[in-house]
Amino acid sequence: MPATIDARRSVPIREAVAVLKRGGLVAFPTETVYGLGADASNPAAVARIYRIKGRPTGHPVIVHIGDAGHLQRWARDIPEHARKLAARFWPGPLTLVLRRALGVGDYLTGGEDTIGLRVPSHPVALELLRQFGGGDDGRRLIGVAAPSANKFGRISPTTAEHVCNDLGDEVDLILDGGPCEIGIESTIIDLSRGRPVLLRPGRVGTGDIAATLGATPESRDRSAPRAPGTLESHYAPRKPLRLVAGNQWGERARGAGQNCAVLCFRARPVGEECAMWISASADPQRYARDLYSNLRALDASGCDEILVEEPPASAEWAAVRDRLVRARSK
Ligand code: TXA
Ligand code: MG
Repeated sequence: MPATIDARRSVPIREAVAVLKRGGLVAFPTETVYGLGADASNPAAVARIYRIKGRPTGHPVIVHIGDAGHLQRWARDIPEHARKLAARFWPGPLTLVLRRALGVGDYLTGGEDTIGLRVPSHPVALELLRQFGGGDDGRRLIGVAAPSANKFGRISPTTAEHVCNDLGDEVDLILDGGPCEIGIESTIIDLSRGRPVLLRPGRVGTGDIAATLGATPESRDRSAPRAPGTLESHYAPRKPLRLVAGNQWGERARGAGQNCAVLCFRARPVGEECAMWISASADPQRYARDLYSNLRALDASGCDEILVEEPPASAEWAAVRDRLVRARSK
């Protein structure tokens, strides 16, 4: 087992920085999900992330930076849109895809000419990034490359325990910062091709972005870079997951029996048998916060099938619906 350390004390962050500097891997909390971090300037360390996750090498990783002021080290010709979004939403759950600066290696970008960048707001992540960047000479590319700390294609971790269950001692150190507040991955906006394009919905909604930029992001098309979070199947439990429309719940889900586990907006009817029943929050942010923990619990409940009631079609549920659609069995 890797060392799991309660990162709300300050000493272990120094330890985590030392692990990163010698090319090791540190799982750390962010406000969205836990990341599996490596020194972004160390190709061998980043290659180990890909190995451990079982992630195809063509899929780029996000580089986490401690300060929006470091943007121009990583990206060239930063558009006004990027400056506005960074000023408004960083630190926070938004990733910007920009044209990469000279010297940013293919091993981070999956061979793309772009780089994904984010300043997270979780205090442990920020402190890790700031201490990691200590002794900065003002020119070097300093950052922590970190995808979500799960096996490729599976459910992202929102607690240190999830990371430990998924990756065990393949990680050198796990910083425990408690459960993640947002619970689903960051919104990704591609600004590398002029007009803003939404690559992945998240807590920062398209309405917030439109209000900041005066332009609504387009949805992605087929010329967008390959991205694992945008593959059709992702964030998937092991058991088959079926989405059921609310108005069909009665006929499709009632009496499903002991082999079913349920996530829905209603209370469990008296006498209804099932492997597990979770009544979800009707608030989209709380629903998102608990989503991956809930899916993990349902997956481990001994059921043969997971039934999830479809959330409303409104914009505030877009990110949750995106994850559920990718998690369902095809
Ligand atoms: O909330 C998050 O973003 C979390 C935490 C740890 O920061 N990270 C995360 O990383 O979700 P990951 O690797 O699981 O997903 C990153 C997404 C992928 O879909 C990846 O393809 C996309 O970001 N991405 C990264 N760099 C990109 C680039 N240059 N062009 C297009 N997509 C990129
Ligand atoms: Mg991921």
